[in-house]
Amino acid sequence: MLLRLLTPLLLSCVALGAQDSADNLLVLTVATEETDGFRRFQRSAQCFNYKVKILGQEEEWHGDGQKVRLLKAALEQYADNEDLVILFTESYDVVLASGPAELLKKFKQAKSKVVFSAEAVAYPERRLEPKYPYVSEGKRFLGSGAFIGYASHLHKLVAEWDGDDETSDQLFYTKIFLDPVKREKVNITLDHRCRIFQNIHGSEGDVVLKFENGRVRARNMVYDTLPVLINGKGPSKLLLNYLGNYVPRVWTFETGCVICDEGLRSLSGLKTDDSFPLVVVGIFIEQPTPFVSEFFKRLSNLQYPKKRIQLYIANHETHHQKHVEKFLQVHSLEYNNVKYVGPEEALSNFAEARNAGMDICRQNPECEYYFSIDVQVVLKNSSVLRTLIEQNKSILAPMVSRNQDLWSNFWGALSSDGFYARSEDYIDIVQRQRM
Ligand SMILES: *[C@@H]1O[C@H](CO)[C@@H](O)[C@H](O)[C@H]1NC(C)=O
Ligand SMILES: *[C@@H]1O[C@H](CO)[C@@H](O)[C@H](O)[C@H]1NC(C)=O
Ligand SMILES: *[C@@H]1O[C@H](CO)[C@@H](O)[C@H](O)[C@H]1NC(C)=O
Repeated sequence: MLLRLLTPLLLSCVALGAQDSADNLLVLTVATEETDGFRRFQRSAQCFNYKVKILGQEEEWHGDGQKVRLLKAALEQYADNEDLVILFTESYDVVLASGPAELLKKFKQAKSKVVFSAEAVAYPERRLEPKYPYVSEGKRFLGSGAFIGYASHLHKLVAEWDGDDETSDQLFYTKIFLDPVKREKVNITLDHRCRIFQNIHGSEGDVVLKFENGRVRARNMVYDTLPVLINGKGPSKLLLNYLGNYVPRVWTFETGCVICDEGLRSLSGLKTDDSFPLVVVGIFIEQPTPFVSEFFKRLSNLQYPKKRIQLYIANHETHHQKHVEKFLQVHSLEYNNVKYVGPEEALSNFAEARNAGMDICRQNPECEYYFSIDVQVVLKNSSVLRTLIEQNKSILAPMVSRNQDLWSNFWGALSSDGFYARSEDYIDIVQRQRM
């Protein structure tokens, strides 16, 4: 496993082309941190040329009410704008599945000035359920994770906000919606049938991937709709991660993985050995293992400047003492640094030894990568460390499978109690059909 402990990862989406941009549509979102989830959202938005404005950057996060405060402040300048349509959405757990043209068309078809996403359960106050208008089909309750409306009407919607950052945005919007006078004045409706917004929390079984020509969407099978925006907050985040591996254009049958080769970091241009990233290599001998000397031979043959490698070797087997010592006698001075923890220093459990290896990298400001390898692993390609670093990813782990057998260290999905669950793409992934 290779872990990068320093810089975060930013991948830009390959734009589909400019055909789908819209001048009278603006996306507002709140992101106080640039998480991986935020970058996924951003990539999906770029894919369709959405115009996105990020609110709350550099602010500390206090709670959901902060989103209303930031939206209210951002809307001041659009108070009288009757033409501009604004999509307000969360971003950490959200993926856009289609472009501005379709979004605007569906918004106009809803024939309301403001459209909120809908949920299957009233939250945070279930006792408000009976107050909701009856609907013959679809989800009945308001979800504040995403909504769309004319700027002037959104301005009216949040005008009364004076709550604390810690209070519930969803309750604030719910109370406006449940007041018939305010509902009519702001002119709010809910997207009951997920034509625009898909909240997958509580409706995990409703959604399947739909592969189109060079693009992927999620289809709601209950209402037979193709939502434009998918929100996977709470426990449904796992399902969103799965959908987000495809939607809108991350992996397709036509192209394979679209984003995997973005932002590669080539090491071939480096002129001197000193300019290579410093790597801590953690080596673990946990039990008696055959061919330990061969392991060390391959280690010393790695195509990587040894002056840029720090070794950390944790060995629990007295029997292997001699193999480690023989290797160190010959090679230890070639390395940037070596730390050896032998059986006599045996830590009570091996997990601690593994954590200690990672700590060596964390505590050294120069360390960019941590490469963890157990002694029974055979590195067949001596360029492997370079090749892994050139992928420029935050974490890379191997997928190990048994030949002719559906057994692997990789799980496509987790059940709700944290055990193995079979994902729809599991077999294709294990058979390396989705690369
Ligand atoms: C490698 O990834 C980092 C962090 O995501 C990014 O800033 C950098 O531009 C990437 N390197 C290249 C050469 O693209
Ligand atoms: C919103 O306005 C339209 C007319 O523009 C009207 O038909 C509809 O009933 C209104 N909706 C609400 C919830 O007031
Ligand atoms: C090692 O891996 C690199 C990068 O994938 C590849 O170009 C090279 O041919 C491989 N070498 C061997 C001996 O397999």
